[in-house]
Amino acid sequence: MINNSANIKDFVREKYGERARQVTQLTVLTNISEAESCADGTCETNLDTSFGAFSNLYAQAELEGLPLEAIASSAGCGNPTALAGLKNGERVLDLGSGGGIDCFLAARQVGQNGHVTGLDMTADMIMLAQKNAASLGVTNVDFIHGEMEQIPLPDASIDVVISNCVVCLSPDKDAVARESFRILSPGGRLHISDMMSLGEVPETLRNDPEQWAACVTGAEDRDAYLSRLGNAGFTNISIEEEEGTARIYDLSAPAVISVKVVAFKPN
Ligand SMILES: C[S@@+](CC[C@H](N)C(=O)[O-])C[C@H]1O[C@@H](n2cnc3c(N)ncnc32)[C@H](O)[C@@H]1O
Repeated sequence: MINNSANIKDFVREKYGERARQVTQLTVLTNISEAESCADGTCETNLDTSFGAFSNLYAQAELEGLPLEAIASSAGCGNPTALAGLKNGERVLDLGSGGGIDCFLAARQVGQNGHVTGLDMTADMIMLAQKNAASLGVTNVDFIHGEMEQIPLPDASIDVVISNCVVCLSPDKDAVARESFRILSPGGRLHISDMMSLGEVPETLRNDPEQWAACVTGAEDRDAYLSRLGNAGFTNISIEEEEGTARIYDLSAPAVISVKVVAFKPN
């Protein structure tokens, strides 16, 4: 756990609340290219379009039919549903669901017999995701306000935990691993996209809230990631670099890369 974890969390919440509010202002726009033009400040918002769905994480066919606000609020570093092998009828939890993009993609895959829950600690993101769900008319998705370090769901109630660029934001990653394990059913799996550092991030950088909230300095190295999941009880853990993603930072410290992480709860 880092020293100023409460402050970091408040800062992260404020940052993503601001993104949700900026996206809400985009409703006057009709397509993603118009939203992209906001990056140079030519429209009413300064939405940062350097990441998420703007950086080609998703195939065009996946994005078809999704509300523009779900696409524009996307702030992930991978595409966890593309490789999670979701099956009809599965119960999915998305940690840090933001505007809901991965929940909506997962909902298509698990069908009406399945269910997807999005969890997010930022009230404005939850409101945006609920608005997106209503405009899509989906009935197998819900969004709950809460923290992934204390997931407000019963033990063994979920088959697959997904997440997209969120675990690196937590100041208490042990709690996230423990809680994910608790709510998974036996045989359940974790299938997440996240950031990983290639070496240990120095303490001074760790305590920079701006870089932490940008999913950079909260990232940990491979050993830390593996031992945390192992200590929580997960088995068959694999961590692989996400190909084709451009989110590699060089802070004159270890580079930080996008990874996909898979782990299982034993039967
Ligand atoms: C980088 S964005 C990713 C959003 C979404 N997964 C996506 O791909 O668009 C991080 C999201 O995680 C949420 N978040 C950060 N820390 C959290 C925590 N401890 N518990 C729940 N949500 C959290 C933020 O509010 C924000 O919506």
